[in-house]
Amino acid sequence: MTTLRSADPLWYKDAVFYQLNVKSFADSNADGIGDFPGLTSKLDHLASLGVDCLWLQPMYPSPFKDDGYDISDYTSIHPGYGTRQDFEHFLSQAHARGLRVIIELVLNHTSDQHAWFQEARSSTDNPRRDWYVWSETDDRYRGVRIIFIDTELSNWAWDPVSKSYYWHRFFSHQPDLNYDNPAVREEIWAVMKFWLNLGVDGFRVDAVPYLIEREGTSCENLPETHAVLKELRARLDADFTGKVLLAEANMWPEDVRPYFGAGDEFHMSFHFPIMPRMFMALRLEDRKPLLDIIERTPSIPDSCQWGIFLRNHDELTLEMVTEIERQYMWDEYAKDPRARINLGIRRRLAPLVEGDRRRIELMSGLLMSLPGSPILYYGDEIGMGDNVYLGDRNSVRTPMQWNGGFNAGFSGADPERLWLPLISNAVYGYQAVNVESQERNSTSLLNWTRRLIEVRRVTKVFGRGSIEFLKPENHRVLAFTRTQGRDTVLVVSNLAGTAQVAELDLARLAGAIPIEMFGGSIFPRIGHEPYIMMMGPYDFYWFRLRWL
Ligand code: GLC
Ligand code: CA
Repeated sequence: MTTLRSADPLWYKDAVFYQLNVKSFADSNADGIGDFPGLTSKLDHLASLGVDCLWLQPMYPSPFKDDGYDISDYTSIHPGYGTRQDFEHFLSQAHARGLRVIIELVLNHTSDQHAWFQEARSSTDNPRRDWYVWSETDDRYRGVRIIFIDTELSNWAWDPVSKSYYWHRFFSHQPDLNYDNPAVREEIWAVMKFWLNLGVDGFRVDAVPYLIEREGTSCENLPETHAVLKELRARLDADFTGKVLLAEANMWPEDVRPYFGAGDEFHMSFHFPIMPRMFMALRLEDRKPLLDIIERTPSIPDSCQWGIFLRNHDELTLEMVTEIERQYMWDEYAKDPRARINLGIRRRLAPLVEGDRRRIELMSGLLMSLPGSPILYYGDEIGMGDNVYLGDRNSVRTPMQWNGGFNAGFSGADPERLWLPLISNAVYGYQAVNVESQERNSTSLLNWTRRLIEVRRVTKVFGRGSIEFLKPENHRVLAFTRTQGRDTVLVVSNLAGTAQVAELDLARLAGAIPIEMFGGSIFPRIGHEPYIMMMGPYDFYWFRLRWL
């Protein structure tokens, strides 16, 4: 049974996404690990939040050396998360609530525990040998950057079994698949078809820029890689409709643009560089970083969409900023060196803004009104905290805080057994920050976020409209209109922690009456003279324009 909210094949252009890891969401059988029956029991929370599509992080069998992004079997469910039946039940229950579900497709690499790699390394004449990228020496593809700079020294790792080197762009236990081999491409399509036939609504496709290697290049964003991706899309389109492919390409906008192709590669792609610039603009109390990156972003085909986000399961990445900007971000947002990892910051939204409700709201307001489909990270709807004393990126992966009781309502296991400890400090601990208490409080962040999503969802122009910036003299104010056909929305945000006034040139909209979208208040009619906006610290307004 499917009662999806929108039958439009371009549904993803209007959707609000919610990212979660099954492991951290809800544990039904008291073994300390979240699972599908647990997640299914929490679907009402997600439906009532108003999101349209869930993005599940990898739920496959895995040795968990990279939290499941090291997959050892692509067509099974990790036994700790439940059975295939549990997954199918979850999927049908999500669909019954109008929620779509996309899952993770890790194309670039497998775990070294995967049977394919075990075979490939077993001997140099094994039929699967050529499924991975081997070399006699470690000096091929010199100059290709290392991504996990805190842990890896080389993109080659020595395999003592077959006495040669294999290529890996991420951890050394994640050998890269060889996409020059048609058998690999065939197998990956079989994997996609397997899950699509079970009813998933698409994939978040992990680490797409790195599929193909060529000597003398950066081995990133190569035309041959695009060809592989276009082939997968063509196969998808031939057999299915209404599905979405969302690319993870942590690149500059001009390098991401080709991943949309002519509407024949990815439907969606994350916009990575916009994210740190939102935080930069907030800290600098200046719209410039945000304006610059949006103006630098090329247009994309009509059927395509950006995915925008404030936080996710990885570090707040600072790869797509300049050296100076990166240092600024570290200085301002990660004073404690423990908060830094690789080229980023392992912190959640609320602690990044010092728990300041006004700044959380401002950032969420921007996320919901800038071009693209917003993606929320689980726990941020209640303002969860982080724990930088945990290893790797686990600081932002702690269990969801459902209530103030035993184990935050996450699990019935002994607290020592939880896969990660709960946040339990006096400010962000589950006794203070949890879903149940925020349900009871009408002014809670949870209820505020619900309202924000509701207003966003009934305002199609946010997902589909164009953006035009107004550039008032006051740089602390970010103002833009979003327009689609006859609908226009005006968004004005005060990035500063002090009251501001801005004079907006709205002459081209003269005659319109702004109606504030959260309360319905009518503001003075726009004329030919500058429109004066007075705003308190971190205030933002959304206005629907009416010509009455
Ligand atoms: C992606 C994931 C990240 C993972 C990496 C390697 O960047 O978001 O969590 O570690 O791929 O699979
Ligand atoms: Ca469990």
